[in-house]
Amino acid sequence: MTAYDVEPGDSVHPGDPVTVDRYTTGARANHWITATCLVLLALTGLALFSPWLYFITAMFGGGQTTRAIHPWIGVVLFFSFAGLFIRFWRANLWKAEDGTWLARLRDVLTGHEERLPEVGKYNAGQKAVFWLMSILIIVLISSGLVMWDQYFYGYTTIEQKRIAVLVHSAAAVIIICVWIVHVYAAIWVRGTIGAMTRGQVTGGWAWRHHRKWLRELVGGKTS
Ligand code: HEM
Repeated sequence: MTAYDVEPGDSVHPGDPVTVDRYTTGARANHWITATCLVLLALTGLALFSPWLYFITAMFGGGQTTRAIHPWIGVVLFFSFAGLFIRFWRANLWKAEDGTWLARLRDVLTGHEERLPEVGKYNAGQKAVFWLMSILIIVLISSGLVMWDQYFYGYTTIEQKRIAVLVHSAAAVIIICVWIVHVYAAIWVRGTIGAMTRGQVTGGWAWRHHRKWLRELVGGKTS
């Protein structure tokens, strides 16, 4: 199947559903492994962060197990996100129209998409989330390694570990906020979740939210 289910020459009747491929099975598996890791990291991390949240450790077999698995899930997330990064970095490069899109955020939030420039595969908001996640994951893995005493105790000083704890906690709070924005936007823009579950979106969704991408897909044949 091509990226667009309607081939030139097909007889298309008004009202026929048109679907557009957006993510391969591999990309979706990669995404949901990353998402699962982040949820598990948030839960195990919060459990270790505050005595008020220590009760969460019961879900993971107690304090010691929680402490042991948290860094390993972080390693899996790092490599899994690296997979997403390799797949999507190019589509997230900043373009001239992204500045205009951001400057008209009010129109985005009030649903006046007709006043916005045509958007490629990702809009400026999605690109910002992508780059923030990328930076924060690098900060989290590097600060995490500094305090992973089970394997790297001797390589860093107490002073460095103290700074790492602070940086790691701050980055974790920020990435949880970024993740909430990501999930909220995915639910708020109706039809988006299907992109990551079924791998497809409707032609209407693509035309409305990512018209430039749709035009590129059909090689400028869409009128
Ligand atoms: C668990 C809840 C999550 C949900 C419901 C969710 C949902 C989605 C959806 C629907 C898309 C497709 C958006 C589109 O094609 O326009 C998407 C894309 C994406 N998601 Fe998630 N996601 C979740 C968690 C995560 C996490 C934890 C990460 C990374 C740490 C992540 C990274 C990405 C990336 C990189 C993309 C591609 C968009 C881009 O490159 O700008 N997602 N997500």
